[in-house]
Amino acid sequence: MSDFDAAAFRQHFPFFSTQPDWIYLDNAATTHKPFAVLEALDHFYRQQNSNVHRGAHQLSQTATILYEDARSCIQQYINAAEPAEIIFTSGTTAAFNQLAFGLMHTLLKAGDRVLISALEHHANIVSWQLHCQRFGVILDVIPLDEQRHLDQVAYQELLKLGPKVVSLTQVSNALGTILPLQQMLLLAKAAGAITIVDGAQGIAWEKPDMQQLAADFYCFSGHKLYGPTGIGVLYGKRTLLEQLTPIFGGGEMIDHVSFTSSSFNSLPARLEAGTPHIAGAIGLAAAIRFLSQFDVTQIKSYKRLLLNTFHNGLQRLPGITVFSPLHDNAGIVTLNLQGEHPADLAALLNEQQIAVRAGKHCAMPLFELLATAGAVRFSFAPYNHISEVEQCLNALTQAVEILAS
Ligand SMILES: Cc1ncc(COP(=O)(O)O)c(C=O)c1O
Repeated sequence: MSDFDAAAFRQHFPFFSTQPDWIYLDNAATTHKPFAVLEALDHFYRQQNSNVHRGAHQLSQTATILYEDARSCIQQYINAAEPAEIIFTSGTTAAFNQLAFGLMHTLLKAGDRVLISALEHHANIVSWQLHCQRFGVILDVIPLDEQRHLDQVAYQELLKLGPKVVSLTQVSNALGTILPLQQMLLLAKAAGAITIVDGAQGIAWEKPDMQQLAADFYCFSGHKLYGPTGIGVLYGKRTLLEQLTPIFGGGEMIDHVSFTSSSFNSLPARLEAGTPHIAGAIGLAAAIRFLSQFDVTQIKSYKRLLLNTFHNGLQRLPGITVFSPLHDNAGIVTLNLQGEHPADLAALLNEQQIAVRAGKHCAMPLFELLATAGAVRFSFAPYNHISEVEQCLNALTQAVEILAS
């Protein structure tokens, strides 16, 4: 059993009272938003709306205070050394594109290696590939072992090649696998690499601590942590952030501009060109304050309970292949029904108002390794009831029967 009061948690989310018939198991794609976030957005736009950092008027000063206060809130939540190490981006993808662009233009040179893993989301693959050829940088990949975990022996061998960057996801969005992250990061640091963590899924599983985690950079998206879409964070150690070439120019990121050249502002403005997503940052801070009321350990054990209930129920169903691990899993189950297209299974569940995702989950190379055209993903959040898991299992049983007939 779990001490976590899922029903009380769920009451904070208006979606479930406005759409009581839906069972939402697509939380790895995006989470629902609590009242606290919706109210923060509404209050800002109705009563305080203004641009930041540039107005001579009180409204702009208030917006600036709120925006910078949001930065401090996130700094404290992830225990970064200072607010300037929090760069607001539009999400994890934008953070990775800034990182790959910024590092390629400064710290990497032809012949250098970047090491990623077979469990990465496209954001941590394609953002590097966009530049690798032009800069002559080599992208290496840690393979999977037979249990579909990262092959740690192969990892140690790849580290011997001396990668300049090791960039790993904390949790696989496609399988739910929790990586032995700290252990892998420490090995990467010992090998002299810059370390990057894709925390897009991990942030909803564990509160990260930037003073403990051996990560030089950590990226995440607000919308997977009950915050708004279009806002995310690139955390980085100051000395490294200062060396990144900005991917975008304009707005407050400049110090001086002439028609021949420009110099850049100090952090964090240096990496935040243009009008930022002010309301998004305020909404993300509201999500973090909301979440801070709850015990992360209790949430984790409740998610494990949801996961185990689902896994146990799946045992009754014939013809199901589960790709996700049962242990070291952050609350995601990816599966297929033998001989059936994942989209057909998801469509049958959709008819019963059960929201899941089907496809390759922005991890195409992984699905090639798994030798499957895609899979159906069920991803749990602490507002899901055990009864919803049971309803989903019943719906799956029916779907299996329909597809078999
Ligand atoms: C592990 C992982 N990385 C990166 C991303 C990209 O996040 P966003 O689309 O919010 O930029 C996602 C989104 O699904 C993800 O799960």
